[in-house]
Amino acid sequence: MCGIIGYTGTDNAVPKMIKGLTVLEYRGYDSVGIAAQVGKKTELVKCKGRIGSLEEKLLVNPIENCSCAIGHTRWATHGGPSDANAHPHRAGNVVLVHNGIIENYKELKEELSAKGAKFLSETDTEVAAALINDCYQSCKDPIAAIRQATARMKGAFAFGILFDGYEGEVFVIRRGSPLILARGKDGYYLASDMTALLPFTKEYCAMREDQIAHLTRQGVTCYHNDKVFEPEWKVTNMTPESAQKGGYSHFMLKEIHEQPEAVLKSISPRINKAGLPDFSCDNITPDFWKQVKNIQIVACGSAMHAGMVGIRVLEDIAKIPTTVHIASEYRYHPPLMPDGTLVVVISQSGETADTLAALRYAKSLGVPTLGIVNAVETTIAREADRRIYTYAGPEIAVATTKGYCTQASVLWMIAAAIAHARGLISDASAKEIVNSLAKEVPAAMEKMLEQKDLFHKIAKSLVGHEHVFYIGRGMDYALSMEASLKLKEISYIHCEAYAAGELKHGTISLIEPGTPVLAISTEADLFDKTESNIREVRSRGAQVTLICREDIPVRKESADEVVSLPVSSPAATVFSALIAIQYIAFETASMLGCDIDRPRNLAKSVTVE
Ligand code: G6P
Repeated sequence: MCGIIGYTGTDNAVPKMIKGLTVLEYRGYDSVGIAAQVGKKTELVKCKGRIGSLEEKLLVNPIENCSCAIGHTRWATHGGPSDANAHPHRAGNVVLVHNGIIENYKELKEELSAKGAKFLSETDTEVAAALINDCYQSCKDPIAAIRQATARMKGAFAFGILFDGYEGEVFVIRRGSPLILARGKDGYYLASDMTALLPFTKEYCAMREDQIAHLTRQGVTCYHNDKVFEPEWKVTNMTPESAQKGGYSHFMLKEIHEQPEAVLKSISPRINKAGLPDFSCDNITPDFWKQVKNIQIVACGSAMHAGMVGIRVLEDIAKIPTTVHIASEYRYHPPLMPDGTLVVVISQSGETADTLAALRYAKSLGVPTLGIVNAVETTIAREADRRIYTYAGPEIAVATTKGYCTQASVLWMIAAAIAHARGLISDASAKEIVNSLAKEVPAAMEKMLEQKDLFHKIAKSLVGHEHVFYIGRGMDYALSMEASLKLKEISYIHCEAYAAGELKHGTISLIEPGTPVLAISTEADLFDKTESNIREVRSRGAQVTLICREDIPVRKESADEVVSLPVSSPAATVFSALIAIQYIAFETASMLGCDIDRPRNLAKSVTVE
């Protein structure tokens, strides 16, 4: 899951590479590099580290008169972060950048080494370059060489390739990894993600599996199977501002603040004139919902946690038995799939390799699939039988906030749609849920955003601790899982989420005087039991923060700090708790001076299994 970019045209290519790679850094930031054509020569500038390090190198040795280049920002898989492993890689007449993994690189490397190829890095990418070069030496035709070489590669890839002797020409192919082509006033582009190209153009075309594209200064020709065609350009409605910080210190903070609007955007297209849930904009009819007898949700990370919220609402409101599965485990221990099973895959990026593999597995069994996806026209969105876009807009911070929140809101809306289609709830109740999601939730979230000072104070109490616990029951256990992930991924404080009642079966032994425990209580009828668990940790000296419905009278001795949640509707309470847990994580990481938008070892779009 690296980021790649390329350009050919009449403008200066290097500043475009820098600008685009800066946006793509969310995909990985272990090393960075560009290959720039200057006349007949191709210069490689690359280094370990981030864009700043590359810019420093370019200041010392500037590249001028370059209007055709490719670039790369890396999340290390094969070989650690180093100058040598940084892309682009050269082999003979071929220079390339790669996003993905070549699974059979070892055998290919042995074969090419036996033929005399020498390798300077530990990467699978250099092997791919050597294989394309090997094919090119016999056929002397870039397209044929790419075809022959990629036919022998197993795994996933998106390549941007330069061939010596092909001035102003970039060759592109993808399988499994995402790739977008774009057309601007002054030339043609490729990138892993449209957000990287928004500063230059809005016209784009998503590449299909195994499609090859040949970019020249005059245009783009695509090759797919035996067909030769020109791309069908579309215009994105994303704006360059949507991929910028807009006055906030961090993308994460901006995205936390965008959530009330994001929920509204995800819900409003699915409300009909009568105020009822209606997914006809997604080509989903009430009859489709009626046929669903059970649901398996498959996803990774926070998307999987959104699925945990989904279980609660799909079972409580729609009475549909629902299970949630970690995508990377799904194929190894697949659950039984009785008639009426719907597999729902959730993915913000639409490209997560494990989720995609699970989707393909479900499809291979002939089970209907539905994708809940944010990034439009991505592989998961395309391959799922049906898709519902969350319309959260570009999410740049590695730690998801609005992505997760819109996934949860869409699941809530699906629960209402199924319950209504099956006649389990009246029009009035369905309208009430819709109204709560479209009006009360955004309003409650806005209200929570005003409590920044309180979140700051709570964050202060977490700084300096090595271990933190989040506890909750039912829906609050689901929220605790997301809360704990948020805190640990950006602040590097170890944090565990526990079902409040389970803590006493072992983990309570870790509670010492001063250990921070954050308890979540959005469900009034579960509060008494959660409060008992709070007493258990409190009597062992824990420092307790209670994130709790405002209508519950909290005893003074129960908590050191209390965050009160609006109670205008169940959804409003849950989504405002979400703001609290995200903001607490943000403030903690901020106080610790962490790189919030780009936490160590992580990448946003995980396109490797
Ligand atoms: C990565 C991100 C997480 C995200 C997960 C699934 O690990 O850091 O924030 O939840 O991938 O991503 P997806 O794009 O499929 O929702």
